[in-house]
Amino acid sequence: MSKTEQALKEAFAGESQANRKYLAFAAKADQEGYPQIARLFRAAAEAETVHAHNHLRALKGIKSTKENLQEAINGETHEFKKMYPEMIEAAKAEGQKEAERSFNFANEVEKIHAQLYQKLLDGFEKPQDNYPYYVCPICGYTAEKSAPGVCPVCGAKGEVFKRID
Ligand SMILES: [Fe+2]
Ligand SMILES: [Fe+2]
Repeated sequence: MSKTEQALKEAFAGESQANRKYLAFAAKADQEGYPQIARLFRAAAEAETVHAHNHLRALKGIKSTKENLQEAINGETHEFKKMYPEMIEAAKAEGQKEAERSFNFANEVEKIHAQLYQKLLDGFEKPQDNYPYYVCPICGYTAEKSAPGVCPVCGAKGEVFKRID
């Protein structure tokens, strides 16, 4: 890998993290009654997304949708087969309950993501379906078409799920 490619990868990772961090900081600022500070966090988060996408494009990291689906499946599969199981074991060994729970939520949901992506990849040549997804705000569990009564991963009520169109 060239120095530039390495730099683009690092910059993409850093900007992506800054985006999510600033959105979390914005929600906190809103909660604490600082709407102007929340706005700046959201504006900067938006800008970091622009930077991240520019870096990813320069990396030639966005391919055809069919290839992108396969890449997503590969990533999710690596996460639930190797990455999270190791992290869960490490967290258990160190008695880090919050980390263990967080890794467990992600691990369970990445399996679902891999299946959902695979289903659309399998049906790629057929006419496109048209239905929403529902995402659990506690664990990220992702459902097709409607929210479950109770989240099968974390037990949250279906009413709190976020609809994605
Ligand atoms: Fe995922
Ligand atoms: Fe959940």
